[in-house]
Amino acid sequence: MSLASPKPSPTRYSMPGEALPPPGPGPPPPTTGGKGRSAGATHHATTTATPRDLAWRLPAPVTRLLAPPPPSHRRGAPPRPGVPAPTCLPRVARGHAPSALCGTGGAGAAGSCSVPPGGSARPQPLRMAAAGGGGALGCPALPLASGRSIPVLGLGTSHQGGYSHDAVVHALQKCGIRHIDTAKRYGCESLLQKAIKESGVKREDLWITTKLWHSDYGYENTTKACLESCERLGVEYLDLYLIHWPDTHIPGKSNREVRAETWRAMEELYEKGLCRSIGVSNFLISHLEQLKEDCVITPHVNQVEYHPFQRPQELVDYCRSRDIVFEGYCPLAKGEALTHPSIIQLAKKYDRTPAQICIRWSIQNGIVTIPKSTKAERVQENCKVFDFTIAEDDVEILNGMHDGRHVSWDPSLIV
Ligand SMILES: NC(=O)c1ccc[n+]([C@@H]2O[C@H](COP(=O)([O-])OP(=O)(O)OC[C@H]3O[C@@H](n4cnc5c(N)ncnc54)[C@H](OP(=O)(O)O)[C@@H]3O)[C@@H](O)[C@H]2O)c1
Repeated sequence: MSLASPKPSPTRYSMPGEALPPPGPGPPPPTTGGKGRSAGATHHATTTATPRDLAWRLPAPVTRLLAPPPPSHRRGAPPRPGVPAPTCLPRVARGHAPSALCGTGGAGAAGSCSVPPGGSARPQPLRMAAAGGGGALGCPALPLASGRSIPVLGLGTSHQGGYSHDAVVHALQKCGIRHIDTAKRYGCESLLQKAIKESGVKREDLWITTKLWHSDYGYENTTKACLESCERLGVEYLDLYLIHWPDTHIPGKSNREVRAETWRAMEELYEKGLCRSIGVSNFLISHLEQLKEDCVITPHVNQVEYHPFQRPQELVDYCRSRDIVFEGYCPLAKGEALTHPSIIQLAKKYDRTPAQICIRWSIQNGIVTIPKSTKAERVQENCKVFDFTIAEDDVEILNGMHDGRHVSWDPSLIV
């Protein structure tokens, strides 16, 4: 999509270089008014389902993955009899960046980082600590309402622009990357299994995010799709599972109904420990508000486009007010940001590359950041962002570059 291209229609959205999704049934009817559980999609009485209950309707190879949840996964689980800790309570004040970045268990030197609350007011110091397993990288992690902590820097993967086995192995073996972002849609989950195996990095030292594609939305399909993703990735659990996109394309059902049904399956996957954290992607405030009315667990993460030209601060503030960690994709604006004169100037000033300026700025703003490269040397470059700090005035320059452009999807027309 060029910068000048018009907004996509609700039913014909596309990503640059990405094939359109299968033709949908046409735009779903707009949903009007508030809708709670009673008026929305039927609430499945599934929260008490056992792995065995699920197993009967799943293909044999994936049922073996339905193991009892690890004892720790219930930290932050929704209110249930005998389970006191709700996830829905906000832990971060509205308009403020997370007050701490915490380690995930590994030792590492603490550093500091300025984060402008609300992205524009006076920066406040942000404690950072190295994430487990990424010691050499010194990558901090952000606490989620699930009780887990997500490394703030991850490696993106995609079908778009190709997938590189060598770059993933290099990221894991040589750069200390411990967070990988993928999706069923990208078609590289099985390839990642090979790269992870070759890297020799242990499963428990990795953070793996994958996403549910809309062809698998709905209560029944979601569980099956999750298990199939685990199978392709060669893992027994996901660290984070995201609903990829708010449009749903299911005939006869509104987007809101399908999202609610789908989210209930995600809640169940979380409760069973198959997904240690759950979240959404490309959800706007309206979509999150509907989900709040229809479901129990607040998403732990919302993954949305975020780079100097696209800084949706209202959404960032909303997410923080509800303890939803904001993860930003396309931190380099798919490369577009790297040739902007102001970014080149800042790169010269800090003796860094434009990519490092974009990534560091995003992380300083408290955003989980997942640049992608198919080239080992660029992966290495993109990781070297924990040994310098961008000054407050320069963060403000970058904050001021927002012009609203999308280099990926624009979900604003999705009801
Ligand atoms: N949830 C969603 O809907 C969604 C949508 C889009 C993306 N994502 C996730 O976000 C990740 C990142 O997004 P993205 O790949 O679209 O955009 P990006 O990370 O902003 O940019 C990637 C582009 O920049 C180039 N690049 C990377 N590092 C570079 C460097 N140091 N110097 C020069 N060029 C560099 C890459 O080319 P080379 O590969 O040739 O180095 C590629 O063309 C994806 O991989 C995916 O995991 C999620």
